[in-house]
Amino acid sequence: MTALLKVDGLHAGYGHVGVLEGVSIEVPEGGFVALVGSNGAGKSTLLRTLSGLLKPTAGQITFGGQAIAGANPAAIVGRGLLHVAEGRRLFRGQSVRDNLQLGLWGSQISTGEAAARYERVHALFPILAERPDVPAGILSGGQQQMLAVGQALMHAPRLLMLDEPSLGLAPAVIDQLLDAVVQLRAQGTTILLVEQMVDRALQIADTAYVLAQGRVIGQGPARELRGSELVRRAYLGAAAT
Ligand SMILES: Nc1ncnc2c1ncn2[C@@H]1O[C@H](COP(=O)(O)OP(=O)(O)OP(=O)(O)O)[C@@H](O)[C@H]1O
Ligand SMILES: [Mg+2]
Repeated sequence: MTALLKVDGLHAGYGHVGVLEGVSIEVPEGGFVALVGSNGAGKSTLLRTLSGLLKPTAGQITFGGQAIAGANPAAIVGRGLLHVAEGRRLFRGQSVRDNLQLGLWGSQISTGEAAARYERVHALFPILAERPDVPAGILSGGQQQMLAVGQALMHAPRLLMLDEPSLGLAPAVIDQLLDAVVQLRAQGTTILLVEQMVDRALQIADTAYVLAQGRVIGQGPARELRGSELVRRAYLGAAAT
């Protein structure tokens, strides 16, 4: 399979603080890649750099065959690389419908295509169709996460990057969300998932990368990494420091 996203020797951080120390990963077109690692490993920093929120200090990012390192976030979204950030950034005072509509911002599409996108989001998360006028801020945590994913889907992403979608949610809701991610992938969306539910992530992804202290310390078929010593050490190591 050809790589939709190829990251090569990426360095990035915050001001003078380096976080990513030469990260290289590949996400194949149509694939499902999980990124796991302990708190502070640099998972969110990697997604922020890929989506243009942080500028890399070195390294290459190629998406759909084009170099995007250092490009601005709107341009990256325009190419179809979407990032659902940690913490569900929604317009809390605005309705569910308006939040979805804001997901179309910058897209030049026909009304027919817009309607098809709403339909797709509603099919995946029927609750969003049932409560279109409710302000996002009064939805449950799980519904807010569905709305955050739905907003990204309004851009018809080629690659959807999800940062800890299950955070703070009840087990039944987590199942529903991760099932939706599996379904999206089956429909052709390429997925890069950061998840603290490590075992679940390794169950549903094809391949995984293990990140520790800003470096990739392991990679392989996701199922083979389940319960592995490598993954265990990545988490224990962080607990010890
Ligand atoms: N806005 C920021 N300014 C300065 N340092 C930051 C900032 N955000 C994160 N860091 C630091 O960068 C390092 C990597 O953080 P990052 O959030 O990427 O980790 P993570 O793997 O996503 O962790 P978690 O599982 O807790 O979400 C940490 O040492 C963190 O303290
Ligand atoms: Mg994070």
